Amino acid sequence: ASTTEVDVSAIEPGQAIKAVFRKQPLFVRRLTQVEIDEANAVDVATLRDPETLAQRTKEGHADMLVTMGICTHLGCVPLGAAEGENKGEYGGYFCPCHGSHYDTAARIRKGPAPKNLVVPDYEFTSDSVIRVG
Ligand code: FES
Repeated sequence: ASTTEVDVSAIEPGQAIKAVFRKQPLFVRRLTQVEIDEANAVDVATLRDPETLAQRTKEGHADMLVTMGICTHLGCVPLGAAEGENKGEYGGYFCPCHGSHYDTAARIRKGPAPKNLVVPDYEFTSDSVIRVG
């Protein structure tokens, strides 16, 4: 299985980039403090797929959200990783195929998708680079 290295140093708070991991879209997003606070304010018990932001990010890097860019409903690529795209009602990602809304931790909040966007195995190899896979 191959790994992918992504330089995350140029991603500003509130921005995301699209990369490719094993031929599939990968989103890397640097959250703003407001987005972090929004994610942490949610009562996890109310979620369809209960996970905290801390469980979905690496320690010391709570602002760096790394997920597959594949809707867990039927596999479309959600919007929200590129500037100006619809981020949906919860400010994260929006899948236009059948209307799934993901929050700022990429957790499913509304619509048909059953699960949060998948966080792949990855690690920081430095403060500016992640290695996925
Ligand atoms: Fe995303 Fe159906 S594939 S909502």
